This record gives sequence, C-alpha cells and structure tokens, in this order.
Amino acid sequence: MKRSIYLDHAATTPLHPEVLEAMLPYLSGHFGNPSGAYALGRQAARAVNEARSSVAEVLGCRTREVVFTGAGTESINLAIKGVAFAQQLAGMGNHIVSCSTEHHAVLHSCEYLDRFGFKTTYVPADRYGTVSPQSIAEALTDRTILVSVMLANNEVGTINPVAEIAAAVRERAQQMRRRIPVHTDAVQAANSLDLNVAALGVDLLSLSSHKFYGPKGVGVLYLRGGTPFLPLQSGGGQERQRRAGTENVGGIVGTAVALRLAQANRQEYSSASRRLRDRIVEGVLAAVPNANLNGHPERRLPNNAHFSFEGAESDDMLAALDKHGIAASAGSACTSATWEPSHVLVAMGVPLSGAVAALRLTVGPENTDDEVDYLLSVLPEIVAQSRARSRGGASPK
Ligand SMILES: Cc1ncc(COP(=O)(O)O)c(C=O)c1O
Repeated sequence: MKRSIYLDHAATTPLHPEVLEAMLPYLSGHFGNPSGAYALGRQAARAVNEARSSVAEVLGCRTREVVFTGAGTESINLAIKGVAFAQQLAGMGNHIVSCSTEHHAVLHSCEYLDRFGFKTTYVPADRYGTVSPQSIAEALTDRTILVSVMLANNEVGTINPVAEIAAAVRERAQQMRRRIPVHTDAVQAANSLDLNVAALGVDLLSLSSHKFYGPKGVGVLYLRGGTPFLPLQSGGGQERQRRAGTENVGGIVGTAVALRLAQANRQEYSSASRRLRDRIVEGVLAAVPNANLNGHPERRLPNNAHFSFEGAESDDMLAALDKHGIAASAGSACTSATWEPSHVLVAMGVPLSGAVAALRLTVGPENTDDEVDYLLSVLPEIVAQSRARSRGGASPK
C-alpha cells in the first residue's frame, strides 16, 4: 500500500478533532446570524464573543482588540493598509519599514501601497534570515508610519527578535517624538512561540487558524486600542466597524479552540517536533553529500528543516517524493514556465544553484519515527537522481 506521509505543516495543518467537534454545531443547527435580534442570532453572537475573549486571553490583550478576519492574508492586508491609509489621512507620513524575507502577503501589500504614494524600505536579512533590531531602527525616518517584521519565517523557520525590534522602534520613535506602530506576521508562530502581545511589544499581530490545527479561511488581527486604523471593507458594522461582513461563526469558534490548544500544548508540540526534525536534519546531512541546512541553526521553528541540494532541482525532488507518498515543499513559487527562486533564499544570499534546489520539510507531532526512517531511506537516492538528470542537460525549468 502506498504510504501517505505529510511533511508540509508550514503550508497547513490538519483540523484538530476537538476543533471540529466545537465547530460542528455552528455548521448545522446553530446557524444563526450573530446580528439577528432573536434567540438563534444571540446564540451565535455569544459564541463569537466567547471565542473573542478566549483569543484575547491567549494574546494577553483586551477582548475588543481582537478582530476576526478571513485568513492570515486578510489580517496582514488589514494591518498594513489599514494603518498606512489612516496615517496618511492624518498627515503622519508615507514611509513603511519591513524586510526582504517577509511573506508575499506583506511584500505585496507594501507594493500595492506604492501606487498611493507610500515608500517601503526593505531591511536586508543576514545569511540566516534574521533581521536585527539595529538595522530596523536605523531605517526609521521622520516620515515612517509603520514597521512590519515577521515573527518566524515560513520558508526557513528563522525566528526574528521581534520584542527587541519593537523596543528599538519605540526608543527611536520617542527620540523623534513620533508614534510608529509595529506589526508582526505571527502566522507561523502559534504552535511553538509565546504570542503575548505585551511581551512582544507589538501594536498589531496577524494569525492564520489553519496553521495551528484550526480551520482554513479564518484569521485573527490583534489591533492595539488607539492604533490609527482605517477599515478596508465597507459594509455592515461587524467587528466594531473594523471588518465588515457576516462573521464565520463556526470558523471563529474553531479558531479559539485551536489557539487554546496550541497554547496549552506548546511545550509538548515543540519537543516532539524538534526531536523528529533533528532526526531529519542529522540523517539528511549525514546521508546526502553536499547538503546545506538553510536558516538559523538554533533560532528556528522546532518543526522546520530546510535544505539546499546544489545540482538538484526542487520540482524534480518534490515529484519523486510525491511518488513515494511524501508531501513536502520547496518554499518557492513555480510559475508556469520558470522557477522563481525563493525571494527569501535570495535575500539570505543563497546562490541561485542552491535556491532552485531547495526542499522544505516541516513536521508535526503526529509524524512518527517510522515516517522519518522512510524519508531518510528514499531521499538520498531522490537527490542523487535529480542531480544526475540535471547534469544530463535539462536546465532548470
Ligand atoms: C508567514 C506567513 N504569512 C502569511 C501567510 C498567509 O496565510 P493564509 O494563506 O492563511 O492567508 C502564510 C501562509 O503560508 C505564512 O506562512
């Protein structure tokens, strides 16, 4: 029987059974619209309110500072564009500081804002993908209206010192007598890192439920009270005028349960994932010649292993892994005719030959030693064959 081994937890995670159980009533009998002025509506509104309080407890913020959105991407768009437009209207400036290793949800939001007169400085990362507080602070000007730096990178798993970055921004902003809100994309962080917004010192934080065993299509935006913000969607007054549209009640209920579980299980999750991940890293580096581990050797997500196998090709390796029933990722986008090397790897200074030969393996505690053994038994040959085919003349597609 063909195996089915899931090693792409950075892309999405399975729904936790307790999450599904909590959601089911709201996908059937409890179908009311939370705005409805009758019992069924009040029941739905109560569920959304309870979910909001639960999320606020995990984030260590006030209940009204939690905004439910449709996915992490929407949360990030709301954070960046919502703050930028509000600051622009208030005449505060037009300059954003972010970094070159961010997810496209951040980078493309900043690019979109270019058309409205904004300018973004993309602070470079070091060879591990880390951004330093000093380089962020140095990029601030008297026109800066927002800083956005991710907590953990989705490709190489590197963890940024966000608390130190936020502190450096605060200090520099005070010297300039400005208030510069700090946003962090924490989409990859919920399973293993503390999300207390006071400890992180951030004004905005984005989450995506399906990355922590919750449902797809639900996100969270933490929006500190008093942060300049202009909503992007026009419509009803849901989410205290910050995100119009009838609430995804089942998804919101599931998100709250998933986030509670993520917080409660963080240590267990991290040690179980780390053990399997370390087995993969040690096994691959020992068995595959000329293999490089990308990302920070220690300050990285406990479930992330990311390699470059120079001379091989990502799409080739992924197809061969898939034939063996192993789901993995390259972390870079393959467009119709060309391999777009990952902007993250390019920003870290990984040579093109390494960037087109990347493989990301992200585990979860539900993976087993047997699955790791199987991966380690097939991967060296898969890399060798891809290298041989590549040497045979096929240029990277
Ligand atoms: C770091 C990071 N930010 C943002 C997103 C976007 O989240 P979603 O696809 O749930 O909207 C992802 C998803 O891969 C991510 O990894």
